Amino acid sequence: MSDRSQLISTGKPFAFDQQRDKEFERLAKRYPIRESMILPSLWLVQEQEGWVSQESIAYIADRIGTFASKVYEAATFYTMYHLHPMGKFHICVCRTLSCWLRGKQEIVDYLKDEVGIVPGQVRDDGKYSLEEVECLGHCGTAPVVQINGKFHENMDVEKLKVLLTTLQ
Ligand code: FES
Repeated sequence: MSDRSQLISTGKPFAFDQQRDKEFERLAKRYPIRESMILPSLWLVQEQEGWVSQESIAYIADRIGTFASKVYEAATFYTMYHLHPMGKFHICVCRTLSCWLRGKQEIVDYLKDEVGIVPGQVRDDGKYSLEEVECLGHCGTAPVVQINGKFHENMDVEKLKVLLTTLQ
């Protein structure tokens, strides 16, 4: 997950499903400059597939009417876009100051040592992936963990153990 310059090909053409297609058209009306659609379109791809592939970049460029290189630049620059398949539950642990001071390392160590999730990798069974990220903007309730986009604040190992049992 660390090399952000390489895109992976699925070997299959990409297209938005009906729901995302409708959302794309709705958003397109709000953006008179078509290239402003790059970031929201990448979000739609990620929402649908969980990650951004080579084919999805070509598809977005085509839908927007821009160069694939422009979509590639955005996708590879912003670390919130995943360029590889992630686990079914993608866990982000904030590693910035407040979370660091309030115990993020115990959380990461627990995930690594007890749950077998190595930071920067997907667990062998595909259930979890783990990433240490910069400030998630909830410093007052550190440490913060985000799972599939949902925030969990004031976390500790005991709370995380319970939380993980609810993820099916
Ligand atoms: S430092 Fe962790 S949310 Fe800001």
